[in-house]
Amino acid sequence: MLILSIESSCDETAAAVIDGRRDNVRVLSNVVASQIAIHQKYAGVVPEIAAREHILNILPVINEALVKAGLDLKTAPKKLDAIAITTGPGLITSLMTGIETAKTLAYVWKLPIVSVNHIAGHIYANWIESESRESLVVSQNSKFPALILTVSGGHNLLVLMKNHLKFKIIGDTLDDAAGEAFDKAAKMLGLGYPGGPAIAAAAAGVGRPGVCRDPEIKLPRPMLNAANFNFSFSGLKTALLYALKKDKDWQKKIPAYAAEFQQAVIDVLIHKTIKAAQKYKVKTVMLSGGVSSNLELQKQFIAAFKNSYAPSDIRYPKADFRTDNAAMIGAAGYFMARAKKFTKWEKIKVDPNLPLK
Ligand code: KG4
Ligand code: ZN
Repeated sequence: MLILSIESSCDETAAAVIDGRRDNVRVLSNVVASQIAIHQKYAGVVPEIAAREHILNILPVINEALVKAGLDLKTAPKKLDAIAITTGPGLITSLMTGIETAKTLAYVWKLPIVSVNHIAGHIYANWIESESRESLVVSQNSKFPALILTVSGGHNLLVLMKNHLKFKIIGDTLDDAAGEAFDKAAKMLGLGYPGGPAIAAAAAGVGRPGVCRDPEIKLPRPMLNAANFNFSFSGLKTALLYALKKDKDWQKKIPAYAAEFQQAVIDVLIHKTIKAAQKYKVKTVMLSGGVSSNLELQKQFIAAFKNSYAPSDIRYPKADFRTDNAAMIGAAGYFMARAKKFTKWEKIKVDPNLPLK
């Protein structure tokens, strides 16, 4: 099944063509026009600028995705089986550009359309074929129940899946998402935007990556032992702020602060995920979202699961599919199309707070 997918929920304009077969998704093209360089000077995404950039980028990006997949504007309507579009959650003015374009193409090309939740896309990045996938047991078929820790700048969820497209949120953040916390901490440490990669790079400079060499620097692990699977990272951010205020020499210890901050986030994420995996006796655990790009998180996640609760499969997406992209939207879209979950183009609506269900 050939699907053209479009993603524009935040600051990346993205289009992809994917081929879905049985339980796997092959990516024929995956084009992302990133606006990171534009937003960098504001140390965060400026919605008005993002919206304007999407309008400039959307058609060239879609065209490039079609061409790279061996299609063109003439052959696409005959060869494609559906269009998948992110309808939320995200920035309303960013989402609208992708949605209006997808609706127009669906109408003109007479193609069915699937409305995809951005977070479902991040989760389904794990179904994209990849030789580099980390697995204890490499399995082609999905093994349910599966537990997914999906962490990005906008969300921080533990999701239980009993089967395809059956999402149950068992843990959420009470305030900031881990990616957002990384971004804010990086700003405090003067490390730039986006903060996740900047903190990871600074932390890697301290002896063994992820290990803080300065025993004086100790940050809290919020909600580590709470009797639920929720997260809270705003206190950790404030703890870092106060620690920096107290320490006149903090500028000489940026790698140590970055390493301790990163480790505090990783400790909480992994501890909660293991507890949830044990409770729900899951067969597969997965990481997804922008923060799953963090190499220390990947490494420690796998090691911790191998040493405690060993599921039959541990996965995280291939590099290109961790931060925002359209291939992941195509992957979720394929499973929806396979289940005939289409929406009439007239009924496709933007929902900046679209719940995962
Ligand atoms: O999934 P994504 O591209 O966009 C959202 O849906 O939010 O995630 C972006 C987030 C940013 O907060 C960024 O700082 C974080 O992912 N991120 C990382 C790393 N790379 C990206 N966080 C930690 N370590 C990384 N290597
Ligand atoms: Zn995202």
